Amino acid sequence: MNVPVLDLKAEFEELRGEILPALERVCMNASFILGTEVEAFEREFADFCGTKHCVALANGTAALHLGLLALGVQPDDEVITTPNTFLATAEAITYCGAVPVFVDIDPATANLDPKLIERAITERTRAILPVHLYGRPADMDAIREIAERHNLRILEDAAQAHGARYRGRRVGGLGTLAAFSFYPTKNLAAYGEAGALTTNDDQIAKFARAARSHGQTARYEHEFVGYNYRMHGFQGAVLRVKLRHLYAWTAKRQEIAREYRRMLAGAHLELPVDAPRDECVYHQFVIYMSNRNKVVAQLAARGIETVIHYPRPVHLQPAYSSLGCPPGTFPHAERACERVIGLPIHPGLTSEQIAYVANAVREIVGVE
Ligand SMILES: Cc1ncc(COP(=O)(O)O)c(C=O)c1O
Repeated sequence: MNVPVLDLKAEFEELRGEILPALERVCMNASFILGTEVEAFEREFADFCGTKHCVALANGTAALHLGLLALGVQPDDEVITTPNTFLATAEAITYCGAVPVFVDIDPATANLDPKLIERAITERTRAILPVHLYGRPADMDAIREIAERHNLRILEDAAQAHGARYRGRRVGGLGTLAAFSFYPTKNLAAYGEAGALTTNDDQIAKFARAARSHGQTARYEHEFVGYNYRMHGFQGAVLRVKLRHLYAWTAKRQEIAREYRRMLAGAHLELPVDAPRDECVYHQFVIYMSNRNKVVAQLAARGIETVIHYPRPVHLQPAYSSLGCPPGTFPHAERACERVIGLPIHPGLTSEQIAYVANAVREIVGVE
């Protein structure tokens, strides 16, 4: 049996009857950049997140970049974030001329450990950038309390967490603003590059709308030097179709996660903890073990594809060697990266595939 981590072709076959007319609407209106489909998506996604505004952008990295600029992050400022993330989280800080300051993760959740944040704050710290990794919300109450105490703003990196809830509230409205990615592998995914910012702050939304379009507040009225970070009309159209399916897809991911947890109970591996306050949307279902590479190879031999998110924490990437954080600086993040495996978890998985994957893992790692 073959079990891929994702099957976008099969997903398209299911959605063909909805997607093609939506793309045709864009062509008929010739609204290729922003336009009616994107505007409608902005309203629908803001409703979904429970925020006042959604500003549609070219990709998630652009959303992080504009998000930090909207918070007033400037050259030489510091922004606190996690090293256990995709490079883009740190890159966006660097784009502002600011410095990423990493704080280790809580090994139970793989997210920023709030207990370690305060000691990383200096007089240059401007913002905190937690990532809701794998679709599991970061501990936002604890982070918000620290931010308030030190007069810092919070940008959520919600690239992997569309629809996740923290104490019943959806991510996207838990900080000052949030950045989403709709990269084709995400839970809510475009057919190309796309991203968005969500916020309840009118001024921030106004800034982001101008900044994504060369600083324009009206046609050819350029208030400041901005960017070309606009979402394409086709992506807005695709995202509107897919947003309608996201509830069912998320429920299916959560059901698969419950099934994996049930079947993997007692196996020689570690699983992340789902705190009762969190509703994880399972962008990834990860397991941790010491002989990771051997297990990946054995799963591949049985036709089971896996992903490693991420093989190396950001502070150990050559791109960030200038920060001077040698191995051992963030031991929990480093340990997670050495031991993590992401199992297939997409809404198209059959019960047979789920059982096949779980049984293969049990056989390979052994059971107590
Ligand atoms: C945690 C995280 N942050 C940021 C990004 C960047 O998003 P994009 O690829 O849309 O620029 C991604 C995804 O790629 C991500 O997973």
